[in-house]
Amino acid sequence: MNQATKNLEDDHVNILQLIEVMGVMTSQSEPNISHLEEAVDLIKNYADGMHHAKEENLLFPKLGEHGFSNVQGPVGMMLQEHTIGREYVRGITEALNLLKEGDLSGISLAYLNMFRYGELLEHHIYKENNMLFRMADEALSDQEQEALYLKFQTIENQGVNGQSKNDFVDRITALKVAYIPS
Ligand SMILES: [Fe+2]
Repeated sequence: MNQATKNLEDDHVNILQLIEVMGVMTSQSEPNISHLEEAVDLIKNYADGMHHAKEENLLFPKLGEHGFSNVQGPVGMMLQEHTIGREYVRGITEALNLLKEGDLSGISLAYLNMFRYGELLEHHIYKENNMLFRMADEALSDQEQEALYLKFQTIENQGVNGQSKNDFVDRITALKVAYIPS
């Protein structure tokens, strides 16, 4: 069974929805600062704080026990991309601070960093879903997948900054309803 990698792929579906919403947000000439801040908060606390923490603190070390390097190869590449993503998020936060101070150059700066973040994560998720996780499914035993999955569930229920996975998913859905007509 691939319970642990399936759990991470479910996160990817939610993260891709958030990126889709950000694509609509950044096509608007009049930015809604509170919605942009909501999107960044979801990136920081859900995509990075919860999802990337599951990968970096649990899945990747377990793969390390099976010979995967964390400085090169697929895991090393994924870690590098997480770091690049954090740089874009820092760029978005700085841009939104400019905007709140009345500096309108913050709009294009925020949109550019959001676009780059989305582009990076879409490719990153494709690589995880189609390559790294499939290699993980080959390497990990059913018991290891189950043990990881149980730890993931604990993280989801304990939450990040007082928010469970379900809270994050509800917030992404609310943004989606506001920006993408069904
Ligand atoms: Fe991921």
